[in-house]
Amino acid sequence: MTKKIDPCTLVLFGATGNLARVKLYPGLYRLDLLGRLPENMKIMGVGRRPIDHEKWCEGIKDMVHKKFKGKVDEAVLARFIARNVYKANEPDDAQAFDKMKDILSDESVYPQNFAYFLSVRPVDFGPIVEELAKVGLTQEDKYWRRVVVEKPFGTDLPSAKALQASLTKNLDEHQIYRIDHYLGKSALQNILLQRFTNTILEPLWNNEYIDHVQITNTEKLGVGDRTEFYDSTGALRDMIQSHVLQTLALTTMEMPKDLTPDGIREAKIDVLEQIRPIPVDELEKHAFRAQYAAGEVAGEKVPGYLEELGDDSSVVETYAALKLFIDNPRWKGVPFYIRTAKRLHEADTRIAIRFKKAPMQINGGQDQNWLVIGIQPRECIKMEIQSKIPGLDINTRTIELDADNRKSEDDTVDAYEALLLNLMQGDNANYLHISEAEAQWRLVDPVVKAWAEDRKPVHQYPAGSQDPEASKVIFESEDQFWRYSIALGGDKH
Ligand code: BG6
Repeated sequence: MTKKIDPCTLVLFGATGNLARVKLYPGLYRLDLLGRLPENMKIMGVGRRPIDHEKWCEGIKDMVHKKFKGKVDEAVLARFIARNVYKANEPDDAQAFDKMKDILSDESVYPQNFAYFLSVRPVDFGPIVEELAKVGLTQEDKYWRRVVVEKPFGTDLPSAKALQASLTKNLDEHQIYRIDHYLGKSALQNILLQRFTNTILEPLWNNEYIDHVQITNTEKLGVGDRTEFYDSTGALRDMIQSHVLQTLALTTMEMPKDLTPDGIREAKIDVLEQIRPIPVDELEKHAFRAQYAAGEVAGEKVPGYLEELGDDSSVVETYAALKLFIDNPRWKGVPFYIRTAKRLHEADTRIAIRFKKAPMQINGGQDQNWLVIGIQPRECIKMEIQSKIPGLDINTRTIELDADNRKSEDDTVDAYEALLLNLMQGDNANYLHISEAEAQWRLVDPVVKAWAEDRKPVHQYPAGSQDPEASKVIFESEDQFWRYSIALGGDKH
């Protein structure tokens, strides 16, 4: 299904920043290459310092060449460059937004549907929208006006509400596009399709057959040079609050009433709001945190988190695991174990569903079935089932049905490319509704608070190791355990 796009102008605040350089400009070039940018579309990059036009164009060429080394179509690049202008909004220029309005009002150059992408510091989201509104640039009469807000949408529920209140002074909900870049990943979009465009999975997708679900997102990387950001954020807010909970929502939502953005988001909101609040009075049974210590990753010695930070009093987690329950008939009694970590033994994002014991148990019992959906790096679906070992005796072993969701000839689309296209299409299905953002904060806030207040030294795990043994404390029963890998046997130590 290809959706139509109105002619439009994209105004990119933070155009000289890292996200713009690495993702947004290269992504827009790729969309141009694929013929997906509307004719006459213009891109206005906005930054704080003046840059002359020639230099700006050279800069964009550079970004594109860096990203697509040796594979750039120069004719498309020339066409793409011609769409671009740069405008400096200098901090001391009180007239900056009036000037922007004057420039943009030239209809012969700028299509009058405007999308504003705020790739700026979160404290600037509200003030920029306020300035745009003051000069009449957010008002929708004949044309649409959309605002993209980068993550994070607040740092807790009160700040998310405050940001929302500030934005909605001038914008309606349908104009606000809140980013969680995971929703731009094809593998995440596939969860909904695989569940509901097949008949064989959905009948099993409930508490009658499913023992528990594990949603895992681990990285081998450490916090790198983002220590300051990370130490004010932690794994729970950085990854679980949105990326992992969105993965959970797609895995557990009911079938949407239709495939419209509203239909899909309503179904996600419903399930996010049905997640039982985590009981803070028995937090240790429901939540576990740890920090990576020095260790070895891919044969290389790496320092621990506290060393990198230069502050050994920090209790900020680089590993977070939660046990959640969803209070609805489909999921009653099924534990969801969700976890994320930096510097674990492998980088993998997956959904692993463990089925209940089979009605026939032989030779003292066999392994339970797993269904595993690989999100990244491998996009795949795997089922582990029991099968007789050929021979004279009756014994079973686990075999796997393993299929790639991505074939080598398939197009690789960066999440931001997909999201930029959705923005221009006016399709906000892959952007967060405010109720989703709020439900997610409501869930994690009490844990963030309890962990911040508990100043006892945090459990350490050596960089490059598997989950800390102590994390098992959150399992409901003794026969539940982490699945460490997507590979067959990944549920064994
Ligand atoms: C970001 C987090 O939102 O997602 C990072 O701030 C994390 O800490 C990143 O590394 C992971 O994204 P991806 O697309 O590489 O899985």
